[in-house]
Amino acid sequence: MSEDGGSAGVPGAWTRVADQDAIPVGTLRGFEIEDERIVVANVDGVLYALEDQCSHADFPLSEGELEGTEVECMFHGAKFDVCTGSATQLPAIRPVRSFDVESRDDGVFVRIG
Ligand code: FES
Repeated sequence: MSEDGGSAGVPGAWTRVADQDAIPVGTLRGFEIEDERIVVANVDGVLYALEDQCSHADFPLSEGELEGTEVECMFHGAKFDVCTGSATQLPAIRPVRSFDVESRDDGVFVRIG
């Protein structure tokens, strides 16, 4: 196993998901790593990664809007803190999982598991 993203699907491994400039400030972008859907948010140049599925129903958060440090689900308006994954507005009450994410010289990397 390497630290450079060559181990996609291995628990705890870092996986390269995008070029460094692929997620501009103030935007969200969804990715799939093996069977895991991930949304990466860029808040003022700091990246955060969450499970890309609202905890209220089966809808991708990457289709939503990033407002400050919150992502709003476009289906029914629930909001989540992108830093922690916690639900901050109904109708969602359960958090979504959050993941480690790093911006490196050679791309954006996410660690699953
Ligand atoms: S599916 Fe996200 S708020 Fe209902």
